[in-house]
Amino acid sequence: MAKSMALLMIMALSYFTAIANSQVKNIFLLAGQSNMSGLGGVVNNTWDGIVPLECSPNPAILKLDAKLQWVEATEPLHADIDTNVTCGIGPGMPFANSLLNKTSFLGEVGLVPCAMAGNRISQWQKGTFLYNQLVMRAKAAAVQECGVTRAMLWYQGESDTTLLSNANAYKGKMQQFFTDLRSDVGIPDLLIIQVALASGTNYTDIVREAQLNPDLANVVTVDARGLELHKDNLHLTASSQVFLGHMMADAYLQTISTTS
Ligand SMILES: *[C@@H]1O[C@H](CO)[C@@H](O)[C@H](O)[C@H]1NC(C)=O
Ligand SMILES: *[C@@H]1O[C@H](CO)[C@@H](O)[C@H](O)[C@H]1NC(C)=O
Ligand SMILES: *[C@@H]1O[C@H](CO)[C@@H](O)[C@H](O)[C@H]1NC(C)=O
Ligand SMILES: *[C@@H]1O[C@H](CO)[C@@H](O)[C@H](O)[C@H]1NC(C)=O
Ligand SMILES: *[C@@H]1O[C@H](CO)[C@@H](O)[C@H](O)[C@H]1NC(C)=O
Repeated sequence: MAKSMALLMIMALSYFTAIANSQVKNIFLLAGQSNMSGLGGVVNNTWDGIVPLECSPNPAILKLDAKLQWVEATEPLHADIDTNVTCGIGPGMPFANSLLNKTSFLGEVGLVPCAMAGNRISQWQKGTFLYNQLVMRAKAAAVQECGVTRAMLWYQGESDTTLLSNANAYKGKMQQFFTDLRSDVGIPDLLIIQVALASGTNYTDIVREAQLNPDLANVVTVDARGLELHKDNLHLTASSQVFLGHMMADAYLQTISTTS
């Protein structure tokens, strides 16, 4: 009798815990250029269709689609957002899977894809198309009562490595963008997890330097140096994207473990 009561209580407890968890949608904004859209597994503008295990769909991983509806997330995550390129594997799905895999308290993960191939940081300044789109989608995602915006994952900069003037302006524009975004989504300390570029064209080091030393609170940088690229020498392979997704998830978990 006592045993079955205890069992019942455990069942009830896990039931309510499950409900409490499923009610929290942990929202992550995804922005930047093609490596964030994800061109892993794309060769000659064709995606090979291979979805690594770490990028598998999961009913607890949702994405805000182009019509602003929450749907179950599947690769290619950016297919309906970055429509000018052929998308493949990016860091978003392995990031989300890794979070769910390493924690039990998280509830749902809501990904908000907003990346677009081939843009410079000046195209993300307040008032631009991409900026407005990002803010609009971020607000639409957070409108739900139980949605909590946790961080933005940011992977950009290659297009700013070609001209010296762009590379030199990178740091200031990056800081301005992050500051404006935080203000416009109403989260002054919004966590930003960004990627330091491994290579670019002429002035990679200047952009990298800015990314590695953002001089802004709550900006965490993970380094893409050493990750394998496709033969185009321009985009991370699918397995590199999986690795990067895990690095970003670890960076996130480390941040919340030191602040809570
Ligand atoms: C991609 O295109 C190039 C040039 O057209 C060709 O040499 C190469 O074999 C193609 N690669 C694949 C995997 O189809
Ligand atoms: C979750 O982690 C386990 C243990 O590391 C691993 O075997 C499994 O493939 C992971 N699942 C996903 C979806 O990444
Ligand atoms: C796609 O490319 C066209 C032509 O270059 C451009 O006008 C349009 O803004 C692009 N769309 C997106 C979503 O980037
Ligand atoms: C930078 O690189 C591009 C192509 O990668 C080249 O066309 C351009 O001339 C270079 N510019 C400078 C100033 O080095
Ligand atoms: C993609 O990321 C890799 C690794 O950081 C970098 O070398 C490459 O320049 C990036 N490409 C683009 C188009 O951003």
